[in-house]
Amino acid sequence: MTRHLLSAADLTAEQATEIFDRAAAYAAGTGPDQPLRGRTVMNLFYEDSTRTRFSFDAAARKVGAGVVNFSAKGTSVSKGESLKDTAWTLRAMGIDGVVIRHHCSGAPHQLTRYVDVPVINAGDGTHEHPTQALLDAYTMRQRLGRVAGLNVVIVGDVAHSRVARSNALLLTTLGAKVTLVGPPTLVPRDGSVLAPAVETSYDLDTAIQGADVVMMLRVQHERMNQAFFPSIREYSRRYGLDTRRAARLGATTIVMHPGPMNRGVEIAGEVADSDRSTIVEQVANGVFVRMAVLSLLLEGKN
Ligand code: CP
Repeated sequence: MTRHLLSAADLTAEQATEIFDRAAAYAAGTGPDQPLRGRTVMNLFYEDSTRTRFSFDAAARKVGAGVVNFSAKGTSVSKGESLKDTAWTLRAMGIDGVVIRHHCSGAPHQLTRYVDVPVINAGDGTHEHPTQALLDAYTMRQRLGRVAGLNVVIVGDVAHSRVARSNALLLTTLGAKVTLVGPPTLVPRDGSVLAPAVETSYDLDTAIQGADVVMMLRVQHERMNQAFFPSIREYSRRYGLDTRRAARLGATTIVMHPGPMNRGVEIAGEVADSDRSTIVEQVANGVFVRMAVLSLLLEGKN
């Protein structure tokens, strides 16, 4: 296993499979019992989160670790303390691993220079979110029996999506075919800028024909400093997964979304709540996958 998990590109197919197998063992109640007993994991969150933050918290406790939760709000970060000084302060308190979410791309890499324990990237700016990609791939394996050979279509605000980049990297490592779809303002012309062999399309109706997985991305209004499409209504009509489009998907095609969702924008509420949807499973699997990541990275390290 790697020392840190900063990027989905850090993982080989064998390492990702080891994480999936450990996650499956935890889901079945047969994983190693509390391998991190006596260790402390720091959850360092500079940006809001519901799923990632609470599932890392639950996962760390389930594998026996103590957890210290740190939010930028309510700490000396609001007085201007730097990441470096915050890291040195936390290091002096004695921690065994750090989970970090930060609004700046590259902050987890920077943190590895200030602490001597494993660092896990829980989402950095528009860059990467490797544990989201792991739980997404694990969910595909659970629902469809494999990842290799799947036709995965990732739809929407690719430009601002760390989920899209991490999924493109991990899924191609695992042998899936990945196509990015969205308006030209939000999808790169050349998909290989995200990961090798990734294709792009601006035509959702064509791209979803033959898809095994349709992964809808949230429109990230908070990261948009200009107009990337004329109106929400037009975006939704051209790139939203509504009931009409969902009805044309294959019988076994699954629909994914990392959350939080803009219901009625990138995905219709009826589709999000349908049997095709894996959205709730993704959240549940996130705990098992993060138990696996934490235990594999931290066990045996003192
Ligand atoms: N998928 C995801 O990262 O959700 P949160 O922002 O709620 O953690």
